[in-house]
Amino acid sequence: MKYNFDQLPNRLNTSSIKWDVKPGELPMWVADMDFYPMPEIQEAIIDASKNNGYGYTYPTKDYFEAYRYWWLTRHHVEIDPSWMIFASGVVSALDSMIRVLTKENDSVMVLTPVYHVFYNVIRNNHRKVVTSSLSIDSDSFQINFREVEEKIKVENVKALIFCNPHNPMGRLWTKSELTQLSDICDKYNVTLISDEIHCDIVNPGYEYCSALSVNESAIACISPGKAFNLAGIHSAVIVVKNEEYRKLLQEAFYHDDIGEPNYFAVPATIAAYTKGAEYIDELNQYLYQNREYVSSFIKDNLSQLRLVSGPATYLLWLDISALNIRSDLFVKELREKVGLILSPGLQFGEEGAYKVRINIATSLNNVKDAMNRLKQYIDSKEKDNA
Ligand SMILES: Cc1ncc(COP(=O)(O)O)c(C=O)c1O
Repeated sequence: MKYNFDQLPNRLNTSSIKWDVKPGELPMWVADMDFYPMPEIQEAIIDASKNNGYGYTYPTKDYFEAYRYWWLTRHHVEIDPSWMIFASGVVSALDSMIRVLTKENDSVMVLTPVYHVFYNVIRNNHRKVVTSSLSIDSDSFQINFREVEEKIKVENVKALIFCNPHNPMGRLWTKSELTQLSDICDKYNVTLISDEIHCDIVNPGYEYCSALSVNESAIACISPGKAFNLAGIHSAVIVVKNEEYRKLLQEAFYHDDIGEPNYFAVPATIAAYTKGAEYIDELNQYLYQNREYVSSFIKDNLSQLRLVSGPATYLLWLDISALNIRSDLFVKELREKVGLILSPGLQFGEEGAYKVRINIATSLNNVKDAMNRLKQYIDSKEKDNA
């Protein structure tokens, strides 16, 4: 391996939201990875830091070209750079887009459970959240297309925010599922907004399918934020083929002050997308090993729990319903008793009331430690209940 994922930097006292914890606590919640940054990205940032000026900056041609190159070579999707708009983050772009593409009190659909911030961007803008639950069928989550269509019709839905691949369950959507969903959206004039921020993290041998490859009128949100752990760098692109929408969104992004990059966003993103292929291949291998470890550990030692995750993202979805403790209480006690910090499934929707999300983007040693802590807590809980 060229890159070392076993050694981790110490991020205590580095203003890290994830690592601002008490001594001995192990945070495995927010979607932030623990690994060292890719050295090529760090070098690009250090080089840029040597320029004698950190003033206002703009996304250069090379910045958009780096996205085009990555999507073509990694994902076999041709994206014309002229369709791309810079945004300082996917969430801020979603927030702005909802205001431009829908009106107050309009309905916006999400397929649940889902990344909790989707609910916020809809509600905070005084739009109505319309949900359709993903159902579980032979260990994989399925879209209930009939219900989606019915609700779109009845609730007069104007936009659908889709998570591709899906956070929190790691579901990788197929081309035929995307086509079916996009056909429904087209039929009822619903704008399909596909958040593809997790697309590079997939088990070896798997590939994600962009909504753009089935429907060029879909709006895709892409970013190096998750795969290269650059959330604090604030770099994202929104792909909008429709010229009229693109102009409106570009204006809105400037108005909302999310249209200009942080000084380091441009060099960091170019380094990621022009030099990062081997890093992502190795990262995916490493994460797969962590996933396999968790899966075997649970089968062998915690067989009352069930892992119901798909092959994408570094987030695992664990069914704890056999323990009969709601996920909010479960994560609170887990932290208090053994110092392991997970996300309560409830955060992502009612369907997650008895589920937890585990972020495995850390060293295998930490993953082993986490599994032992989880077992210790569950054993003591079961002993108390006996
Ligand atoms: C699906 C999804 N979209 C967006 C984000 C955040 O994106 P950004 O940091 O670019 O706002 C996350 C972070 O976890 C996410 O899971």
